Amino acid sequence: ADPDPLQDFCVADLGSSASVLNGFPCKPASNVSSDDFFFDGLSKEGNTTNIFGSNVTAGSVVTFPGLNTLGISINRVDFAIGGVNPPHSHPRATETVLVISGQVLVGFVTTGNVYFSKVLTAGQIFVIPRGLVHFQKNVGPGKALAFTSFNSQLPGAAIVPLNLFASTPLIPNDVLTKTFQVGDDVVNSIKSKFSS
Ligand code: GLV
Ligand code: MN
Repeated sequence: ADPDPLQDFCVADLGSSASVLNGFPCKPASNVSSDDFFFDGLSKEGNTTNIFGSNVTAGSVVTFPGLNTLGISINRVDFAIGGVNPPHSHPRATETVLVISGQVLVGFVTTGNVYFSKVLTAGQIFVIPRGLVHFQKNVGPGKALAFTSFNSQLPGAAIVPLNLFASTPLIPNDVLTKTFQVGDDVVNSIKSKFSS
């Protein structure tokens, strides 16, 4: 989904002070080495001790600057028993979910509210069309591990529960009570779960 590259590579200079750019400027090619095309950030298990029981370790251009202008990225997703990667969407990318271990329920919902899902085991893949709300849940007896790949260097993630109940500043309660047809008590309870 990203624009095509205009050169072989453009390793991101994340610290550049060039302020208005669609993406990141390139580090001078003379300063680029093999290490710029290497990323070790997905080799370790993420910390799943949180309310969702899951952890996404991002391998986007922000953590792996060598991806700049190349139109791809990859995440590691770890799941505790029963863990969920909550409903979210990526405005800039289609996603493939590859399960490495465990049993993972992967689902997405179309703009017409049709739900598609599958339970995946090791080596199996599900595709999440660009922009659609989706989730993964560990439905197996142990931990689970998946890698997710994107056709964007920075897919972005709009996490539905946090968008709605943990924004800064918060969405007013009357919007949420009317939207979900519940009282302030329910909205306040949900907000409290997500406030840090
Ligand atoms: C999983 O859905 C991810 O976005 O990494
Ligand atoms: Mn996703």
